[in-house]
Amino acid sequence: MLDITPLAGALGAEIRGIDLSQALNDDTVRKLRKLLNEYQVIFFREQAISPQQQTDLAQCFGPLQQHPAYDTVAGHPAVTILESSAEKPSKIEQWHSDMTFREHPPLGTVLKAVECPARGGDTLWASMTAAYDALSAPMQSFLGGLIAVHDFSHGFRESLAEPGGRERLADAVATNPPVRHPVIRTHPETGKKVIFVNALFTTHIEGLRRSESDALLQFLFQHIQTPEFSVRFNWRPGSIAIWDNRSTQHKPVNDYFPAYRRMERITIDGDKPY
Ligand code: SIN
Repeated sequence: MLDITPLAGALGAEIRGIDLSQALNDDTVRKLRKLLNEYQVIFFREQAISPQQQTDLAQCFGPLQQHPAYDTVAGHPAVTILESSAEKPSKIEQWHSDMTFREHPPLGTVLKAVECPARGGDTLWASMTAAYDALSAPMQSFLGGLIAVHDFSHGFRESLAEPGGRERLADAVATNPPVRHPVIRTHPETGKKVIFVNALFTTHIEGLRRSESDALLQFLFQHIQTPEFSVRFNWRPGSIAIWDNRSTQHKPVNDYFPAYRRMERITIDGDKPY
């Protein structure tokens, strides 16, 4: 029996009464998918699962993707390592949805906390359906006809600028040219409209002058940060978040240095946004 505690007005729920180290039957997977559509990000505590069990869990939602730039757990190519320390701080500072530089950005993400700082290191999520619904009808209508460009090289520009970065990421750059997505996408399961531009990967909106595109994107990047659209989660080792990458954005809070933080992440294949 799943025990569900909603955590905020717009999105987020903590789910108890499930052991994610066990194979999930079809009925449980159906329930989790329904909860994901409803709450957009779902959290689990005290789940000591191995990289293989995390892979099995993620595969319940669909085929997995591999990230072109991050290191992975040995023997588990879909499990990317996100680690951050005072010497090598995380470069993920901005609100984003994962890997929108792909033609098919992920449906969702399964993130596990392996090592957490004693305090800080939370993650924020924001509901992009709530952000869309809060726009005026004329703005919704204007944005609804626009296409934006998303670029791996833009999101990873700091890594590319490091000594040896261009060489290390040459393949990733070559295999991930800029892609076009609608500024407002339709969620394929709920039918809801979603703001689908993000500060990490979106470079510009097609057809607008550069100054117009910059101003509109800045407005949207500010708008999505409205506290009423968000939920905040404090990690402990063994905490797991599964989020809908089509209808949310997230941002790690990098407030814990010099402590160390390690997360392991799997992204699930998604469809072409429309
Ligand atoms: C991510 O951006 O996918 C990871 C978020 C986090 O480390 O909190």
